[in-house]
Amino acid sequence: MKRIVSGMRPTGKLHLGNYEGALKNWVKLQDSYESFHFVADWHALTSDYADTSKINENSILMVTDWLAAGLDPNKATIFVQSLVPEHAELHIYFSAVTPLGWLERVPTYKEQRENITDKDLSNYAFLGYPVLQAADICMYKAHYVPVGQDQVAHVELTREIVRRFNNFYGDVFPEPEALLTASPKLTGTDGRKMSKSYNNTIELSDSADVIQAKVRQMITDRTRVKKVDPGHPEDCDVCQMHRMFVAAGVADQFDDDCRNARIGCVDRKKALAQAMIDYLAPITERVNYYRDHQDEVRDIILEGSRRAREEAGRVMGEVRRAMNISWS
Ligand code: TRP
Repeated sequence: MKRIVSGMRPTGKLHLGNYEGALKNWVKLQDSYESFHFVADWHALTSDYADTSKINENSILMVTDWLAAGLDPNKATIFVQSLVPEHAELHIYFSAVTPLGWLERVPTYKEQRENITDKDLSNYAFLGYPVLQAADICMYKAHYVPVGQDQVAHVELTREIVRRFNNFYGDVFPEPEALLTASPKLTGTDGRKMSKSYNNTIELSDSADVIQAKVRQMITDRTRVKKVDPGHPEDCDVCQMHRMFVAAGVADQFDDDCRNARIGCVDRKKALAQAMIDYLAPITERVNYYRDHQDEVRDIILEGSRRAREEAGRVMGEVRRAMNISWS
């Protein structure tokens, strides 16, 4: 089986956008790839170094949602980056062979330095973010990296680092490739892209009541004032979103009823909320289970990290020998 590696920064509870954009794909891939999935807690430090108080708690909450979504510790190796210190060692070796210019040119770096003003990102680690990511990927000699479009530049840089490293020290690492997740961007409850920073998310652990309340405040077709007015489902976030969670025929019928004013916006909102609740039901059930069994989540993380570390140790031995810094 080919190997995949992917990580997420510890953002805490995950939302439907995280699920559709990444997690669902991981769950699918675990049957056909040897999978390594980890909490990138050191990556959180590169920008959120000033307040580290939530990192641990958020890591556990996030893995809880991974398990609830169906990531299976018997198939995938689930671990936390900081529990595998070999990542830091490989990061040092990679940082030696990475020209500064490569890092300064990374689009996410330039963009975030320009746009993020509420934290000081003039620190060393923030520039080195993609080098640490390259170490994460190569630590397990991954062939593929399942990521969204925003991470492609980082995988590209990883390939360049691998080429330069192999060139100096011999063929140690395969060149990994991004495995793009083709998923439509999920709209949040305010019409913008679903994102934690916009406060417009449906969380995987939201109860039915919470989902209903969040969907109730969504905006529908602005030109439809009264129920007798014909609706325009193509201009309505609620209608569009409903379509993502039900069969096409069902959505078509709702669209038709909306256009002909046979149903109102409230009806469609109720249908959307219910569709989401049904869609999330198996996940919700497991979230509740793991919420009540946080010790089990901890044990899964510790066992996964132990397994990851075994593999990382093997690869580091090889790296040290290739670089002539081996003393054994
Ligand atoms: N940079 C990734 C993100 O923000 C997280 C990440 C860290 C990652 N290391 C990785 C993803 C290695 C894939 C492989 O989403």
